[in-house]
Amino acid sequence: MPGFLEQIEPLKQAALSELRTAPDLTALELVRVGYLGSNGRFTALMKQLGSLPKDEKPAAGKAVNSVKNELEAVLAERRAELELKAALPKEATDFTLPGRRRALGKLHPLTQVTEDIIRSFRKIGFVVADGPEAEDEYHCFDALNTPADHPARDTQDTFYLKSPAADSASVERGSLLLRTHTSSVQIRVMEKQQPPVRIIVPGRVYRRDNADANNPTFHQVEGLYVDRNVTVGDLKGTVEFVFKELMGSETRIRFRPHYFSYTEPSFEIDFSSPLTRKMGKEWLEIAGCGMVHPQVFETVGYDTEVWSGWAFGFGIERIAMIRYGINDIRLFYENDLRFLRQF
Ligand code: DAH
Repeated sequence: MPGFLEQIEPLKQAALSELRTAPDLTALELVRVGYLGSNGRFTALMKQLGSLPKDEKPAAGKAVNSVKNELEAVLAERRAELELKAALPKEATDFTLPGRRRALGKLHPLTQVTEDIIRSFRKIGFVVADGPEAEDEYHCFDALNTPADHPARDTQDTFYLKSPAADSASVERGSLLLRTHTSSVQIRVMEKQQPPVRIIVPGRVYRRDNADANNPTFHQVEGLYVDRNVTVGDLKGTVEFVFKELMGSETRIRFRPHYFSYTEPSFEIDFSSPLTRKMGKEWLEIAGCGMVHPQVFETVGYDTEVWSGWAFGFGIERIAMIRYGINDIRLFYENDLRFLRQF
């Protein structure tokens, strides 16, 4: 049996040549296991080290280690080569082929309508305001002059939340709930700032029993304008401007008397356009509005002798349905791409 050192060189040469010629990654792995695996030939040689006489060990150990390092370096080099080869296309690339178009996403139709509404109001000096969806009874009802026995506060209509620790602030402001309308944000804004106020509030609202729409959540846009000498004429002119922008220049609007606890007088807004006629109706009800009730101003600490204002609120889904001729509100939430791609 040849001496230890004499065995190293032939084994090294054999391993090197097999590593360098391995045709693919699978073959390379087999070569690695055959030499350097736990039962590999080179590993077996290393295991013999222990049984060498003491004075031969240092030189033999050094020789074996340097070969092992060399084999590992060649292995890594060949692996990189073969990995690159595996990643390259099998056929030549035709650079004259047309590029692959990346499919671009689109904004949801409700987002598009919301952005159009915001854009129209910005033109006439309104800014976007925001408030919490998990609201308290005070901002959603009491401060809006909606008394405790009002049907809107019925648990049938409103999602009430289990409040966390009932600290004194939350007791004072009533139970937590999911806001049933964006009107709560009127209060939040007026609490924080003095007039003039010119805001719109797009946002999500929640109702347990939404008879005509049949969906527990939908979207509204609230508007609030407070300044000196504000009139119903300003309200009507503003609403008409925005709806003409949204629904076409042939749009007409009319006000019908109505009741809301936070406005006096209050109106419902109907509108008429080629779009409503397409739906078989001359007039469609589209929004609620009115002159801000003095009680609301008193609650937020505005001087009713100085300030007057109006507010309105309407549903975004309803606008989108009329605009695009959609007959089922649930289509907006199903995320069916065949529906969404049409907008
Ligand atoms: N909050 C009402 C609703 O959800 C809409 C509304 C009516 C908002 C009159 C207003 C308003 O600001 O003045 O049906």
